[in-house]
Parts: sequence; C-alpha cells; structure tokens
Amino acid sequence: MALQFTVSERPDRLSTADRDAILANPGFGVHFTDHMVRATWTKDEGWHDGQVTAYGPLSISPAAAVLHYAQEIFEGMKAYRHADGSIWTFRPEANAQRFQRSARRMALPELDEDSFIDSLKALVQLDSAWVPEAADGAETSLYLRPFMFASEAFLGVRPANEVTYCVIASPAGSYFSGGVKPVSLWVSTDYARAGEGGTGAAKCGGNYASSLAGQLEGIEAGCDQAVFLDSSTHTYIEELGGMNLFLVFKDGRIVTPELTGTILEGVTRSSILELAKELGLEPEERRVPIQEWKDAAASGELAEVFACGTAAVITPVGELKWNGGSCDHRRDGHQDAVALSIRQKLLDIQYGRAEDSRGWLTRL
Ligand code: COI
Repeated sequence: MALQFTVSERPDRLSTADRDAILANPGFGVHFTDHMVRATWTKDEGWHDGQVTAYGPLSISPAAAVLHYAQEIFEGMKAYRHADGSIWTFRPEANAQRFQRSARRMALPELDEDSFIDSLKALVQLDSAWVPEAADGAETSLYLRPFMFASEAFLGVRPANEVTYCVIASPAGSYFSGGVKPVSLWVSTDYARAGEGGTGAAKCGGNYASSLAGQLEGIEAGCDQAVFLDSSTHTYIEELGGMNLFLVFKDGRIVTPELTGTILEGVTRSSILELAKELGLEPEERRVPIQEWKDAAASGELAEVFACGTAAVITPVGELKWNGGSCDHRRDGHQDAVALSIRQKLLDIQYGRAEDSRGWLTRL
C-alpha cells in the first residue's frame, strides 16, 4: 500500500513579499520553499510516518551512517506551471524507477512508485505558491529534490537499518548563470567519474563528489565544466559531472554515449533521443571516442555539442580543451540550431505549450 503523507505543520516560513522577491530572481538551488516531505524506513516496520512538515534543519546523529559511508541517493525533477495555472511534472515514473534502481545499487530500501509520486504531490500542493507563474517563453520552475539516506547511528559497514526519505523544493531559473550561452569543457584524464561495476549509473551523491576534483581542474584551465572519459582506457566519452552529452554531426546523426553501467540514465537524455527523430535526425547510442570529437571538429563534420539534464535542460557546448590542446567546432559560426530546437520542443511540452502526445506529463 502507498505511504500516506500527512500535513503536520502548516505555517509558511517566509512572507509573501519575501517569496515574491525570490521568485523574481530564483537562481538555482539557493532558496527553498516553506515545507518538506519526510518519511522513515526501519528494518522492522518498513516505510512509515510520511509527513509534510515545515522546511528546516534535520537532526541526525553524528554517527549516522550516511556521514561516514555515503549510503545516499537522490533525484532531480521539476514542477511546471501551465498557462491555466495547473501544475505538472515530467515523466515522474521514470524518476521513480531510477530511484528504485539507485536504491538497489546502494543497498537502500526501495520506495514504491505511487508513494514517490504522492510525496511530490503532497509537497507541491502545499507549496503551490512557489511554482513560478507561466509567462511567454518562461523557463522558471520549481525544482524538486527527493533524496534518501542512511540515518541509523552505526559505524559498522553494512546496509543501514534506519533510513530517512525527504523531498525538498527550490524555485529555479537557469542552472548556468549565463543562461543558454555555450559552456566550455575540460577533458579530465587525471580523474574518472565512475568505473566498471561501480555506482556510475546510480544517482548517488558519491558520483557527484568524485566529479568535483576534475571540475576544479577544468575551472583552473578556464573551462566551465569537465567531461569524464571511461576509467579503464581513457578513450571514450562518458558524461559531465551532472549532465549527459550529445554530439550532432552535419549529416544529421545525433550521437550520445551508450549506457554502459558507468553513465547516468538521464530522463532528459532518453527524451531527447525520442524528440530528435521528430526533427528528422538519426539518433545513435554507442561508444564515442574523444578523438572522434577532436577529428570531427577539425574536419568541420561536427555541427554541435550539447549537455543535458533536468537542471540544465539543454545547454550548448563550445570549446573543448585538454592538456596540450583545444578545439572549437563553432568557429564557422554555427548557431546551435539543433540543440535550441530540441530544447524548445521539450520546454513546450513541459510548459503545456505543445501537445503531450506521449503522456509524459503528470498533474501534481
Ligand atoms: C539534475 O539535473 O537534476 C541533477 O540532479 C544534476 C545536478 C547537476 C543538479
């Protein structure tokens, strides 16, 4: 049976004026709504005590296993307001199923799909005033962050017997402060994000932590983000610290690294593979050598590169830099037409401006 989420504390944390000021300039991931969801799992009782409560600090033991062994997973989703005021989210079953796969990989308890979606509904219904107004071409939304962690106070290394599930929400503008301006990428060879048999396909905090040193290396080299290669041969493109990657060739091929178990199975990634067909493009999922990117940029065959994810939507990539060289396929003035038109198609569906023929939207 699905977990019930009872509203245990109603008062809003912030005044209407403070909320409106935040909504006028939300940034990404810096402001949080008035409430949050919490539920507990124990080995003896399973999932219980689902509640929507005031947003605020969590009290956990300094011995909580998550703080020592990183037994933790999360999801990233968005709530979109349509022109008629209704609020929707995008492919939540896909996130719920990925959350379950991540849970299995990290030896955490699975949360059933209905409870996962009900938890989003419970929070968004109470904090609906935090979902930005629909406006022409609007790209602001309420970012939803479900997460689960080992809250048992125990220092032995084994799956925790007590786990906490939460959902928090944060009004969101563009992930990158420059909006959809192209970002530059650094090819990280000193660091890998994930290895074979590891946790690369799980959405767990450790993958993001392990991307940070490469990201810093990239920033020191003057780039915005790092792109990671496969850890065994350092030959094939995997993904950025928190986004999947696509290459668009001038002959109409649109190529993304295949899912090898070390890459996050992005919901935006899989949606793009479908939408690209509507634009007459030929999607390919396969191993992509980093050399192919460099060669195709040099020969002029490469039209565009873009990164994608729930937070970043679709963000064009410009220059690629590595230790000892760089290339920029945009030198011929190509204007990221494919990236921008897929981005528009996706946003139009999410904001209810185009028909949702695949049933990707769920009302919250
Ligand atoms: C998302 O796109 O939702 C993520 O979780 C990635 C992170 C870079 C914000």
